[in-house]
Amino acid sequence: MHTTFIINVGILVNVRETNELLRGEALQKLPVIKDAWLQIEEGKIAAYGEMRHLVLPESAAVIDAKGGAVLPGWCDSHTHIVFAASREDEFVDKIKGLTYADIAAKGGGILNSAAKLGAMPEDELYHQSYARLQELIQLGTTAIEIKSGYGLTLESELKMLRVINRLKQAANIPVKATFLGAHAIPLAYKNNREGYIDLVINEMLPNIAKEKLADYIDVFCEEGFFSTAETERICKAGIQHGLKPKIHANQLHASGGVETGVKLNAVSVDHLETMNESAIHALANSNTIGTLLPTAAFFLRMAYQPARTLIDQGCAVALASDFNPGSSPGGNMNFVVALSCIQMKMLPEEAINAATLNGAYAMEVQNETGSICVGKNANLIITRPVPSIAYLPYAFSTNLIARVLVNGK
Ligand code: NIG
Ligand code: FE
Repeated sequence: MHTTFIINVGILVNVRETNELLRGEALQKLPVIKDAWLQIEEGKIAAYGEMRHLVLPESAAVIDAKGGAVLPGWCDSHTHIVFAASREDEFVDKIKGLTYADIAAKGGGILNSAAKLGAMPEDELYHQSYARLQELIQLGTTAIEIKSGYGLTLESELKMLRVINRLKQAANIPVKATFLGAHAIPLAYKNNREGYIDLVINEMLPNIAKEKLADYIDVFCEEGFFSTAETERICKAGIQHGLKPKIHANQLHASGGVETGVKLNAVSVDHLETMNESAIHALANSNTIGTLLPTAAFFLRMAYQPARTLIDQGCAVALASDFNPGSSPGGNMNFVVALSCIQMKMLPEEAINAATLNGAYAMEVQNETGSICVGKNANLIITRPVPSIAYLPYAFSTNLIARVLVNGK
């Protein structure tokens, strides 16, 4: 049996014997063991404890953490990492004064990405996306959700989902696939939105379900994109095919997306830049997770998600990167965690819980990863020596990751 011991762990972070979706005061509690060791067997966490009690078997392989912290890898529950091209020209347009909505209205944004993705062969899309995923793993992300939604035709949505499924096979980390056919109305259906919704429900969904290409259904519930009534219809059709909803809600407007998600018993409602009392109340009294995407607010120069209010009102929150070429062109979860502390006043403990265990819940992989727990995957971040947990978000621009392990390797 292949056994490895990580020794001289300065702080072993998020050590939990049982799983629990964290909200309120529980989110503030980040259980740690100082001066610790951790044993990995067959790619899984087998045991842990304090250094002073360790009797190291002679034959064991040893990784010396040299005083660094060991954390469960980041669980990034909202990304769009399968895309064909970057969009820095739109970034410059925004600097010059155009808004996200202006750019979308003139055929940029999602439609721009869809045109480029449609033209790219599947293999090329796969290789680009695989490289992106490997880069994220180096940054500590060891579980990820990936959405379609830059296809917007039957053929291209299937192509994206096949790429995501190839990543699932190749990556060795938990990967969840989300069907986001309802990301925008494509140009070909500009004057026939009913026709496109019909395509999503009656053509795309049955084919995706038949090939088992998706785990979740998503809709961009937003003014100018899909209404709450349309979101409900599309999600209900997804549910019929066994796909639970995880939806884009309350990004640009408070137009009922959160309430709709809660009503549909969505696993998560994501973004939440624009919240009102009704949305907060609905979310706080539900099992739906509010997934905050602070780098999207950062990049689009929007007000940040009201994390403090959401947490204090009892909402279960997760943090994710939203990595996509339009609103968050990067997936560094270390920065997401730092930004949530710096700009949203989350405590470092809350941010780390939200980016690990609650993130795992937001893609239903909490039994595989998200905490230091015997039997979970040894998907781990080993940092350089740090004086405390708060140092991680504090030193926001320093790369503190010394090593990332996936299944103990
Ligand atoms: O999550 N808001 C909708 N979808 C993406 C952005 C898509 C794009 O601009 O390409 C998001 O921010
Ligand atoms: Fe998104």
